[in-house]
Amino acid sequence: MTALPLQNPFDDVLRGPTPCLALAPMHDVTDLRFWRLICRYGGADLYFTEYIRVHGTSKPRTSILRAIDDNPTGRPVIAQLIGNDAAALVRTARELQQRPIVGIDFNLGCPAPIVYRKRAGGGLLRDPSRIDHLLGALRAAVSIKLSVKTRLGFDSPAELEPLLAILARHSLDLVTVHGRTVADCYHGQVRYDRIAQAVSSLACPVLANGDIDSAAKAAAVLARTGARGVMIGRAAIRNPWIFDQIRAHREARPAPVPVGRDLLAYLEDLYEASSLSTLPEAKRVQIVKRAMGYVGPGVDADGSFWREVRRARTHAEMFDACRRALSHDRPMALVPVQGLAPPTGVEPVADRD
Ligand SMILES: Cc1cc2nc3c(=O)[nH]c(=O)nc-3n(C[C@H](O)[C@H](O)[C@H](O)COP(=O)(O)O)c2cc1C
Repeated sequence: MTALPLQNPFDDVLRGPTPCLALAPMHDVTDLRFWRLICRYGGADLYFTEYIRVHGTSKPRTSILRAIDDNPTGRPVIAQLIGNDAAALVRTARELQQRPIVGIDFNLGCPAPIVYRKRAGGGLLRDPSRIDHLLGALRAAVSIKLSVKTRLGFDSPAELEPLLAILARHSLDLVTVHGRTVADCYHGQVRYDRIAQAVSSLACPVLANGDIDSAAKAAAVLARTGARGVMIGRAAIRNPWIFDQIRAHREARPAPVPVGRDLLAYLEDLYEASSLSTLPEAKRVQIVKRAMGYVGPGVDADGSFWREVRRARTHAEMFDACRRALSHDRPMALVPVQGLAPPTGVEPVADRD
C-alpha cells in the first residue's frame, strides 16, 4: 500500500515510510552552491543551514538567507541558530520563521573553543539550566518546528541522561545526536548505544549522527539505534553519491559506483561550488583545499595525491594532479582510510560576509 503524502514537508520526511537522510549543517561548506551541487548527485531529504550566530546585535549572514530564500533542493530546510542570549534568539527565530523554512534548530554541539568558551554551542552543555531556559523561550516563540542538534555531553556521555530529561520538557519536533562529547571533538568512537538511549527516551524523532560514511554503515546505525534517520556531514563532501547509495541499499537495487573520472568531475564541480569565481585564483585554490581535505587523503594508498594537491598554488597545478590520479575507470571506494577528521581539527568559525 502506498503511504498518502502528509501535509507538512517536515512530516513527510520525518514521519514517512523511509528513514530520513539529512545533510549535516557545516559552517562554510553547506551553502546554496554546495546544496545545489549535492542535489546533482541525488541529494538529501532534509537540509540544515550552517549555524547562524546570534547575539544582541546580530543579523543572519546574507549568504545563509540566500540559501534559504533560493533553496535549490526542492526539499525542506531547517535554519540553525547558535547563541546564548534568549531575547536575541527569539528575535532571530521570529524573523526567520517568516522565510521558507520548516523549522528552527538550536546548536548544542559546536566544539570550537571560541564558541564554547562563550557558553554557546557545545559550551551550553556545561549549563543545563540555561539550556532549559533558552529552549523554553524558543518553544514559546517558534510556531514552526523546533529541533535541537546536540552532542552527548560536554565531558562525559553520562551527561546525556539529565540532558534528555530537559529536552523532553520542550515539545521538540526533532533531536539530532552526534554520538560524541564536546571534549571528544572528532576523536574516538561514536557512541551509537547512547544515540539508542536518546531514541528510546524521547517522544520525538531522532537523527543519528557521527562517522556514517557508507550505505552499509547507515543501515547498521539505523538498526543499532532505532533512529528515524541519519544525518551525514563529512562523508557527503567526500562522497556526494552517498545518499543515493543508501537509498539503493535500502531498496536492494544496484548502487551508483563512482569511478576515478566521476570523482574528477565532482572535484571540478566542488572547485566551482566552494568559492566565488570573482575571488583571486590563489584564494580559490586555498578555499577548495579545505573541502578537498575530506576527499584527498585515501585516494591512493601512499597519500601522494593529497600531498601534491596541497602543494598546488593554481587551478592548473591542482587539476593536473587530479587528472594524473583520477583519469581512470576503476571504482572508487570513497571510504576514509582512518576516519574523516576535519582538516583543521575543529569547525571553522570565520564569517564570510
Ligand atoms: C567543516 C564543518 C563545519 C561544521 N559546522 C557545523 C554547524 O554549523 N552546525 C552544526 O551543528 N554542526 C556543524 N558541524 C558538525 C557536523 O554537523 C556533524 O555533526 C559532524 O561533522 C559529525 O558528523 P559526520 O561524522 O557525518 O561528519 C560541522 C562539521 C564540520 C566538519
